[in-house]
Amino acid sequence: MSKDLDVEQAAGPTNDIKVETIAIQPVAAAAAAPVATVAEATVIAVTNGEKADDKLKLQQQQQQSSNVTVTTTPEQATTTTTTAAASPTTFTTTATITPSNIEAVNKGNNKSNMDPALINFKVLYVLTQLCGLTMIVLVGTWIGQHFGGLGGTANPSLEFNWHPLFMTIGFIYLYGNSILIYRGFRTTRKKTLKLTHASIHMGAFILTVIALKTVFDSHNLAKPQPIPNMYSLHSWLGLSAVIIFSLQYVAGFVAYLAPGIRENYKIAMMPFHIYFGLFGFVLAIASALMGITEKAIFAIPTYSALPAAGVLANIIGVLYVIFGALVVYLATEPAYKRKALPEDTALLSTNSATE
Ligand code: HEM
Ligand code: HEM
Repeated sequence: MSKDLDVEQAAGPTNDIKVETIAIQPVAAAAAAPVATVAEATVIAVTNGEKADDKLKLQQQQQQSSNVTVTTTPEQATTTTTTAAASPTTFTTTATITPSNIEAVNKGNNKSNMDPALINFKVLYVLTQLCGLTMIVLVGTWIGQHFGGLGGTANPSLEFNWHPLFMTIGFIYLYGNSILIYRGFRTTRKKTLKLTHASIHMGAFILTVIALKTVFDSHNLAKPQPIPNMYSLHSWLGLSAVIIFSLQYVAGFVAYLAPGIRENYKIAMMPFHIYFGLFGFVLAIASALMGITEKAIFAIPTYSALPAAGVLANIIGVLYVIFGALVVYLATEPAYKRKALPEDTALLSTNSATE
C-alpha cells in the first residue's frame, strides 16, 4: 500500500544492512562537481546483526530531476565510531531521493512520528472494513439459514435472495470502498487510483444490475400470479439511487478519465461529483434499510416476538448504518484528504486537484 521511502539496498547476502532513517538537510555547496549540492545523511546501519549508529557525511550529486543516488563505500564507513566487531565487509547503499521522500523524512516518516490524523484514519478504515465484511457474512447467513439459500429462475422466491446479497456486496460495500480509495491508498499515484476508483464502481454497478434482475424476476415469475413491480417506497428510492449512480458514473468517466475535458471544467465539477457520489451512497444505505425492514415484516411472521431471523435482520440494519456513517465520515473529514504527490504533478502539466 505504501511506498514510503524508496530505499534500495545492494548489500551482500551475509550483510544485514538496514537503512532506517535518512535525514537530509541541504547545506552549502562544497567540493562536489559544479552542479552538485551536498547533503548530510544520518544513517543507522546494522551490520551482521549488530547495530551501530553511524553518522556519515555523504556527498550526493543532485540531478536536475531531484533523483539522487547515495553510495556508501567501505572507506566512508570506516570514518564512523563503531565499536562493534562488525566485519569490514563491503556494503553499498543506494537511496533514490525524490521530493516526496524528502518531505516524508522531514515530517518524520516513522510510526512514532506519524501524523495522528492518519493513525485515526487507519483505525477507522480497518473498523469500516470489519463492519462491511461482517455485514456481508451476516446477510449470507440470514438468507442461508432463514430463507432457504440461493436459487435460479425456476424458484423465484430463492432467486430473490440474490437481491439482498448482491446489493449488500455491490451497492453498499464496493460503492463505499471505491469512495474511500483515494484516502485509503494515499501514496499510490493518482492515475492508478482513478482507474481503480472507476473499476470498483463498475464492479459495484454490475452486481447491482444482477441484484435488480433477480428481484424483478422474483416478482414477474412468481406463481400463481406475478407480484406487481415498483409499488414500494423502497423500490422507488432504491431505483433512484441506482439511476443517480449510473449518471454519476458517466459524468465521472467523461470528466476525469476520458481525454479532452478542460481543466477548469474538471475543477468546477468536482464539488458536484463528490456531493452526488455521497448522496447516492447515503440513498443506497437508506434503501437497504427499507428493504430489509420490508422483508422482515413480509417474511418473518413472528417478527414482533423477536425471533433469531428478526434479530439478525436488525443487526444487519445497524451494521448498514455504522458502515455508512464511517464511510461518509472518512470521505468528508478534511484532515484525511489525500494530498497530491509530487509525481502526480511532475508527470502531468495539469492541476493535481483533479488529475
Ligand atoms: C441498497 C440496495 C437496494 C436497492 C437499490 C434495491 C432496489 C430494489 C428495487 C428497485 C426493487 C423493486 C423490484 C420490483 O418492483 O420488482 C426492490 C424490491 C425489493 N427489495 Fe430491494 N433494493 C436494495 C436492497 C435491498 C435489501 C438489502 C433488501 C433486504 C432483504 C431488499 C428487499 C427487497 C424486497 C423484499 C423487495 C420486494 C418488495 C418491493 O418491491 O419493495 N432490498 N429492491
Ligand atoms: C458512480 C460512480 C462514482 C462515484 C459514486 C464517485 C464518487 C466519488 C466521491 C464520493 C469522491 C470523493 C472522494 C474523496 O474526497 O476522498 C470522488 C472523487 C473523485 N472521483 Fe469519483 N465517483 C464515481 C466515478 C468516477 C469516475 C468514473 C471517475 C473517473 C476517473 C472519477 C474520478 C474521481 C476523481 C478524480 C476524484 C477526486 C479525488 C480527490 O482528488 O480527492 N469518479 N468520487
